[in-house]
Amino acid sequence: MTARPPVPADATVPARPLFAAGEIRRRVREIADEIAAAHPGGVVLVAVLKGALPFLADLVRRLEVPVEVDFLAISAYEPDSGRVRLVKDLDTDLAGRDVVLVEDIVDTGLTLGYLLGELSRREPASLEVCALLDKTARRILPTEVHYRGFEIPDVFVLGYGLDFAGRYRNLDRLVIGDVDVLTLDPDAYVADLYRAPPTHAENGTGAPGSGAAGHVNPGESG
Ligand code: IMP
Ligand code: MG
Repeated sequence: MTARPPVPADATVPARPLFAAGEIRRRVREIADEIAAAHPGGVVLVAVLKGALPFLADLVRRLEVPVEVDFLAISAYEPDSGRVRLVKDLDTDLAGRDVVLVEDIVDTGLTLGYLLGELSRREPASLEVCALLDKTARRILPTEVHYRGFEIPDVFVLGYGLDFAGRYRNLDRLVIGDVDVLTLDPDAYVADLYRAPPTHAENGTGAPGSGAAGHVNPGESG
């Protein structure tokens, strides 16, 4: 591995666009059609909180077969270690069901490997993976992704569910951020990516909180 040049993180460099909302919408439709074609009798979608939420919400509305949804949440112990644990389990019994695990992004594949092991023990009739984004070049654990939105290079992505320290999940598009910049200041891209809330003078009422269409809630991490 080559050493990084000692270039200071430059927060003035904006996040770069990756996929626009319209491009994501079109691709999600195509994936929904693929899943429906493979499962005409219906399917159980298991989504991994929190990142898969926008993807799942758009996917289910395009699926023209009966769908049940359920959620699980995991907590990572260390980055890239693959040592994760379930912090929220499913309510649904997967035995004998056709299951599609819905993920925002597959990076090293370690998280997915853990989840597939966990879910296959419940003896579903079938178990497939649907991921919006796939960083195949970063894969450590080979894992099959049956339905893939976009294959992307080794970049750090924000938006449409993906976060840094809980920020940026609610963007309707995907952008590329710089991890060094974000590590120094997790809010570095907030002013650039969100519409600034109007000042009291601009919103015309003088009342705090009114007309705050672009208000940013940094949310919690995870
Ligand atoms: P893996 O176990 O390395 O495949 O990690 C997958 C998890 O890492 C994803 O579910 C995300 O939570 C997180 N992750 C990986 N790449 C990115 C990214 O580019 N942006 C935001 N989160 C990411
Ligand atoms: Mg995830």
